Formats: sequence, structure tokens, C-alpha cells
Amino acid sequence: MGLHTHIEPQRTPQPSGVEILDLRHFSSHHLRPLLEHETRTWANLMSWDYRSSAEMILRYIDSKILPGYAAVENGRVCGYAFFVYESSKGVVGDLYADQSIRIPGSSVERLLATHVVETLQQSPGIHRIEAQLLPHESGAVQEPFVQEGFRQYPRLFMVLPLKTRPQIQISSTPEIEFRRWGEQDFQPAASVITAAYRGHIDSDINDQYRSLHGSLRFLNNIVRFPGCGVFDNNASFVAVHRLTRAVIGVLLCSRVREDVGHVTQVCILPEYRGRHIGESLIALATHELRSRNFNALSLTVTESNTKAVSLYHRLGFEIKRRFDAFVWEG
Ligand SMILES: CC(C)(COP(=O)(O)OP(=O)(O)OC[C@H]1O[C@@H](n2cnc3c(N)ncnc32)[C@H](O)[C@@H]1OP(=O)(O)O)[C@@H](O)C(=O)NCCC(=O)NCCS
Repeated sequence: MGLHTHIEPQRTPQPSGVEILDLRHFSSHHLRPLLEHETRTWANLMSWDYRSSAEMILRYIDSKILPGYAAVENGRVCGYAFFVYESSKGVVGDLYADQSIRIPGSSVERLLATHVVETLQQSPGIHRIEAQLLPHESGAVQEPFVQEGFRQYPRLFMVLPLKTRPQIQISSTPEIEFRRWGEQDFQPAASVITAAYRGHIDSDINDQYRSLHGSLRFLNNIVRFPGCGVFDNNASFVAVHRLTRAVIGVLLCSRVREDVGHVTQVCILPEYRGRHIGESLIALATHELRSRNFNALSLTVTESNTKAVSLYHRLGFEIKRRFDAFVWEG
């Protein structure tokens, strides 16, 4: 991800006494208490160990390359937001505030969101902005996004408790076999992702899915970098056509806590759907995680992706949270 540094420092005093300042005025020691607060929130809401992400963000803050804003009240950082530039796209990386600060008629998150949206929309060459606000309940910070013409996509955070639910059966067709993810799978998996999400709502939310190049970039980020948990090779599988040896389905799993897995991707080529291949991939991942004494497997899904949502329900996943993705196209 390319980090540009052309944002002018801004000082915006708010009537409430909260100031919104350029994030690059701050160092990790100013932000650490807030990120520790956020780490506790991720643990409580999503059983997600956010510590390594928080450390990575703090390192970026110290190197002054992270564009974004800090909300300051009485000399204390009570909220922050940052974004990254990926060619002509701006992606909101995080938006978080210590909920103990309540401003009448507004909130620190909304102030931060307003600043981030304004900055990105005014950045030359930025034609698209994406944001997924996992720790925020759907609707909680929608106003600044919706006002500025973003489309809003409610998404679900679902969890399968592995200790209390029965084992899912592997029940796919004989022409298909399964094996663990390997280095050779990047290119074929990128093709599967591009084909699986053609015309799909998730490629409105994440435009990487729309091209082979973007899907490869997505895979690289998931497998090689710890942004969305640590990739778990042993719990990640591909479905292969026995005769042609073509990859026709993929499930990628990361570890977001010592004992919690997270499905970062699951998709099947359209012509192979409805034959329990997706279900079998999820079964394989859960068998692996159970054998290692994991407690849960989580995933996120767009609420209007009803086929996927009902499959997850049937397999025992429960809805834990509803959050929003926002997209703006200039
Ligand atoms: C979601 C997805 C991975 C499921 O894979 P799959 O192999 O089709 O799943 P299964 O066959 O195990 O189960 C799908 C359900 O839809 C039914 N179905 C029937 N025809 C179908 C079709 N043409 N397409 C999708 N589902 C179909 C299945 O019978 C099954 O219903 P059930 O749960 O009541 O038994 C797959 O549809 C897909 O790749 N979708 C596009 C990408 C996507 O949305 N990924 C999930 C993101 S969170």
C-alpha cells in the first residue's frame, strides 16, 4: 500500500473542546493508551487479538508516514483515524475513539470521519474511497459518509463456536478433491476470485475483486502480511477438479487470536456452486482448527449476500455484530 504524505497539517477547534489535528504531529506514546483501549474493544466484541496490528500502526505513527487525524481533548488523544492511498483509491484504515468522550449531538468518531472524508475527497487523483468500520455498530457513524454520497453496505460478523457445535461433514461431489493451500495457488486462486465476484455485491465494496491484478494483490496482502490476522496455511484449502486439475474454489483462513480462526476468503466458481463444495471447504477448515483445540471460527459477510448468509446459518454460524462498509466513487 502506498502512503502519500502531502496532507497539510490542520488544526480544527471544535466547540466541544475537542480538537482535530493532523496525526503526524503525534508519536506512539501519545496514541498508545487509545490503541490499548481499541485492543480491548476488538477482544471483547470480536475475540480478535489486535495487539500486533496496534504495534504496526504505532510504528507507522512514529515514522510520520500515516495520513490521518487525532482527536485531542485536554491534551489527551481520545480518538484517531488514518487512511492509505492505493493508486487512485483511498482506504480508511481505522477510525476509533474512546467512547468515554461524548459530545452533545455529535461524536468524536463523526468528527474524525468528516475530516477523513473531506481530505480524501479533496486529494488529487482519488476517485474512490472505501471504508469498513468493523468495531462500529451499523449506522453509528453513517452520517458523514451518507451525507457525502457514500453507498452504505450493512455487513455481518458471524461466529461458529467450535466446541459446542457438531462437526460439519465433507460431502462434495466425487469429481472434486481438496488440498491445502500452496505457493502455486496464487495465480489460479486470483482467477477464481475474479470470476466468482463478477457482478457480485462484494466487488462493489472491494474493487480489487474486479481484476486479476487486484485479486492477486488481495491474496498477497492476506497471505503474506498480518493486516487481517496471521495467515494459517494448514486451515486454508483449495478445491481442485480431479481431471483438469483446475482450481475451482478457495478458502483462506487466518488466526486472529491464539484459538480463533477467521475466514478471510471463501468462493467457488459460479458453475460449481450448490454442490456443497463451499460447505466442504468450511468443514475442512473447522476439522483442522478443532484438531488444534481452537474455540471459534469467524467471518464477515455482506448482509444482502443471502445465499452465503443462509449457508453460514445452516452450518451453525451466529451473527455477533452488524457493521457498515462505505464506498464513494467520485
Ligand atoms: C458462498 C459460496 C462460497 C457457497 O459455495 P457453494 O459451494 O455454492 O455452497 P454449498 O453448495 O455448500 O451451499 C450453498 C447453498 O446454496 C444452494 N445453491 C443451489 N444452487 C446454487 C447456486 N447456483 N449458487 C449458489 N448456491 C446454490 C445450495 O444448495 C446450498 O443451499 P443449502 O445451504 O440450503 O443447502 C458460493 O456461493 C460463492 O462462491 N459465492 C460467491 C462469493 C461469495 O459470496 N463468497 C462468500 C463471501 S462471505
